[in-house]
Amino acid sequence: MSWVSNFLTSSIGKKLIMSLTGLFLISFLVVHLAGNLQLLANDGGKSFNVYAYFMTHNPFIKTISFGLYAGILLHAIQGILIALKNRSAKGSRYAVSTGANASFASKNMALLGTLIFAFLLIHMGDFWFKMKFGAVDMVAYDGIDYKVQDLYDKVLTSFKNPLVVVAYLVGLIALALHLLHGFQSAFQTLGLNHKKYTPFIKGMGVIFSILVPIAYAIIPIYFFLFK
Ligand code: HEM
Repeated sequence: MSWVSNFLTSSIGKKLIMSLTGLFLISFLVVHLAGNLQLLANDGGKSFNVYAYFMTHNPFIKTISFGLYAGILLHAIQGILIALKNRSAKGSRYAVSTGANASFASKNMALLGTLIFAFLLIHMGDFWFKMKFGAVDMVAYDGIDYKVQDLYDKVLTSFKNPLVVVAYLVGLIALALHLLHGFQSAFQTLGLNHKKYTPFIKGMGVIFSILVPIAYAIIPIYFFLFK
């Protein structure tokens, strides 16, 4: 098995891990956004709370969640190691884009990733930790014969605080910039370089990197202004 560990610790192996964990985290962003948009349903939080109950009690999704925590840690640790190595080699700071033409995002992936990680610590402390450790009230709804946690109420309370809203917006701007470089870089690392498809992937990456963080940002802004 030593060839496996040799490969995974080689620079191409490390980039492959970054690319695969990055794509996995991108797919999580889509699922999480679809769930969170239910916060905007005008039903006092019923659909969001019932959805959150399902996501946190379904054995298959609970198993995927452990993969998600591992993916976040692996992506973050590997990213820091790559950035430190590049810095000490005084070469490129990150992956593929270097030199005068490299974008702000491509030159600052580790900094942006650190900001996103800080955002995640605040975010998970606020919602996930309280949810897991029972600091959320239970609520009953018509037509459902079990009680669920009132996470909607936690979200409402959090997003009434302007500092929390600003922290979310900063985190989401960092996410947009990180994705602007990361999305297409992940495909490039996988060797998916093609005259016809590469411009399409790059275009999709730009659209995704802008639209997804905007859709997330609508939630705290809407709660702060209108709830
Ligand atoms: C502004 C919009 C957001 C809201 C309202 C929100 C809300 C929540 C809530 C209520 C939870 C706990 C319940 C659950 O696990 O589904 C949660 C978990 C989580 N959130 Fe968010 N979130 C937002 C944005 C984000 C973003 C942008 C990221 C990533 C960069 C993120 C990453 C996570 C992670 C990793 C978890 C733990 C998931 C798990 O345990 O499986 N969230 N979020």
